[in-house]
Amino acid sequence: MTDPSPIGAHPMTTQSEQAPRPRRATPEAQPAGVPELCDVEQHLITPAAPAVGRVVESRLCTASRKAAGFVRHVAIDVSGTPLAGRFRAGQSFGVVPPGLTDKGKPHKLRLYSIASPTRGEDGKGQVLATTVKRTIDEHWDDHTLLLGVASNFLCDLQPGAEVAITGPAGKRFVLPKDPSAHDYVFFATGTGIAPFRSMLLEMLGDPAGACQSRITLVMGAPYATDLIYHDELTALSQTHPNFTYLTAISRERQDDVDRKLYVQGRLETHADHFRDLLASERTLIYVCGIAGMELGVFQGLAGLLDAGAMEQYLRGEPGVMGSPSAWERRMIPRQLRPTRRVMLEVY
Ligand code: A2P
Repeated sequence: MTDPSPIGAHPMTTQSEQAPRPRRATPEAQPAGVPELCDVEQHLITPAAPAVGRVVESRLCTASRKAAGFVRHVAIDVSGTPLAGRFRAGQSFGVVPPGLTDKGKPHKLRLYSIASPTRGEDGKGQVLATTVKRTIDEHWDDHTLLLGVASNFLCDLQPGAEVAITGPAGKRFVLPKDPSAHDYVFFATGTGIAPFRSMLLEMLGDPAGACQSRITLVMGAPYATDLIYHDELTALSQTHPNFTYLTAISRERQDDVDRKLYVQGRLETHADHFRDLLASERTLIYVCGIAGMELGVFQGLAGLLDAGAMEQYLRGEPGVMGSPSAWERRMIPRQLRPTRRVMLEVY
């Protein structure tokens, strides 16, 4: 018997016994300044037939060798594959680790954010890079060592090694078609920096001329030694006055403030800067990193902005909007609805 019921209804009930189907919600009116995102191609290489890339570079990319974790910038030559010249800043690509799982099945592909601009690391879109943190942990039940399969495979690869790749993937966490039509606030934690390195190099490193938009990046890390691409980002901010680079260190005091900070804490320490930037109809917010950070960012925005400015980025039921301290992550996106001026990628 074909099941005519909508998902969630009991398969044996008839159409007439079911609760009425919810009416399709009318699309919510969006604030001014909603971006037209750039056109992307996706899934040019599928997991059924991965292409072969070749590692050309692998280097640590934390601010210091003293970092507790290992984060590597791994660059892969994709020339001769369908990815060459066809990925966009902000997209991801897939890596298929070799070998089999404990159950004898091939490993599933893992998606990694592309850290390179559309023109690639090489200026021709033939080499893409990603930012990989080694997953090193203990199994919770018997405390034996747990090594993440794909992250350690990628981090172990030496220049010249081959890697099975797919992609590109992602169409929402990308820049607008005309990046100069907007200003930007980027919030990153950990390897969530990868798509922002990609976007910053896209906008500021363009050999045809740097984009003049106002861009602020807030980068969060446990310790200052864990900051990723810190020297490169510092150099970019020194050569581009329209780019502000702020860090938020969660387990030690900051150079400028005597307390620990999550990224949203920068909305307080730099309140005037953000109030002005976020009041503008041009501004877009991008958030990438640890799951849960988006809630803190929204609460931080609510503490900073008046109701009019806030509704450019987040909307919700009136009772809900009025009490940010009671917000919970599960309220996103139904009771707290980010507008199309907010791009979220949390994991
Ligand atoms: P902490 O772990 O001190 O609580 P990494 O990916 O390198 O572990 O870094 C993630 C960073 O994000 C850490 O500084 C971590 O702080 C911080 N973090 C953890 N939870 C949140 C949250 N809900 N909002 C913002 N930042 C967070």
